[in-house]
Amino acid sequence: MSETAKIEIGGKSYEFPVVTGAENEKAIDIKKLRGTSGCITIDPGFKNTGSTTSAITYLDGENGILRYRGYPIEQLAEKATFLEVAFLLIYGELPNKKELADFKASITNHTLVHEDMKQFFEAYPAKAHPMGVTASMVCSLSTFYPESQDPNRPKEAIDLTIHRLIAKLPTLAAMSYKNAMRHPFVYPKNNLGYCENFLNMMFSMPTEDYEPDPVVAEALNKLLILHADHEQNCSASTVRIVGSSQANLYASISAGVSALWGPLHGGANQAVIEMLDKIKEDGGDLEKWVAKAKDKDDPFRLMGFGHRVYKNFDPRAKIIKKACDDVLEKLGVEDPSLDIAKRLEKIALEDPYFVERGLYPNVDFYSGIIYKALNIPTEMFTVMFALGRLPGWIAQWKEMVENKEPIGRPRQIYTGETERDYVPIEKR
Ligand code: ACO
Repeated sequence: MSETAKIEIGGKSYEFPVVTGAENEKAIDIKKLRGTSGCITIDPGFKNTGSTTSAITYLDGENGILRYRGYPIEQLAEKATFLEVAFLLIYGELPNKKELADFKASITNHTLVHEDMKQFFEAYPAKAHPMGVTASMVCSLSTFYPESQDPNRPKEAIDLTIHRLIAKLPTLAAMSYKNAMRHPFVYPKNNLGYCENFLNMMFSMPTEDYEPDPVVAEALNKLLILHADHEQNCSASTVRIVGSSQANLYASISAGVSALWGPLHGGANQAVIEMLDKIKEDGGDLEKWVAKAKDKDDPFRLMGFGHRVYKNFDPRAKIIKKACDDVLEKLGVEDPSLDIAKRLEKIALEDPYFVERGLYPNVDFYSGIIYKALNIPTEMFTVMFALGRLPGWIAQWKEMVENKEPIGRPRQIYTGETERDYVPIEKR
């Protein structure tokens, strides 16, 4: 017999099915709760709420497990290319040789953005944060491809939008960086790999030759894979919920970019480096900063520490920490921030406050140090995260559409004034 759960409200008992996932995770299916009992559930931050069933990413926060479509993140980060992983996430299986060649060819074919988009860039102030620019540019793509606004397009048309997004996001991201420095834009080079092309658009200058360093390209490939999906996080849920209104894919992804920007989510990678710099400038007294993080009257938190789901360790942080050591060594870069980060991690991990709350370094704790070593400017760190997360967002959107999920529309418990009569202004 399948499992059920009973909920008792006002002396009356209601029974609900229990849903079991592929890895034996359990959920009470309360779809009929309001209809039968008149009650809703309340769960701010959705800490106990599954918004969907999904076959994309499996995450076990207690045991530090992360798998894309069943493949362990450790194997993918070690052996795969980012485009292979993008294909896997979006289409469900690793591509064979022909599928990968076709996928790459299609993406390579769409790397240019419309020349008119340059005018948008030029209108932004030089100090514009590249995340604001990137979110706007991704949404602007929908205006160049108005057919993308039709929610009932055939599969081929949807694939074209997907390929355009994967092809153009690196171009737009690099343009936002060049624009911030008021340097000339560098056009994509289709003979280069995905990561090499991005590096070329970022760092190539008309004044000198630039050859992407294979060590840098390899590190970038790994970082993008590690960020490629993370099931129903803040930005993925945003993409799904915006897409559930049948807003087009560009608009949905743009919303995801905005959700990622915050320092409690993807913006943490920028915040970590800023925090490490602040600690360094302040004399490097780590005990003082750990004490600040523990003080409830102090808004300071250890950025790059803690995770909504991982309460043991973040498997991505483990891989990144090692990659960080490798990259710095291979590039011959010495970064005092790495030393501060390692000492800070050690102190925090021995402190009962962090241990009791299951606060471990997350993916963003070390990624910023690698990005810094790769010469990526701090303000671009979260854009790098967005580049990596794009296939995950697309896969989440596609799954939501294919599963014909209803429009996302949570309920609430109203706590404001009950009905009262309007009072004319002279009597207030
Ligand atoms: N420093 C100090 N204390 C912390 C930290 C931190 N980084 N993170 C959580 N805590 C404390 C909270 O104050 C709270 O303590 P309390 O129980 O005494 O009130 C407890 O740990 C639980 O924290 P919550 O905020 O309730 O946990 P939640 O799951 O809501 O938040 C989050 C998770 C947002 C990631 C949080 O740990 C945080 O703010 N971390 C720093 C920002 C960060 O690194 N974000 C990146 C996350 S990874 C990603 O999105 C890619």
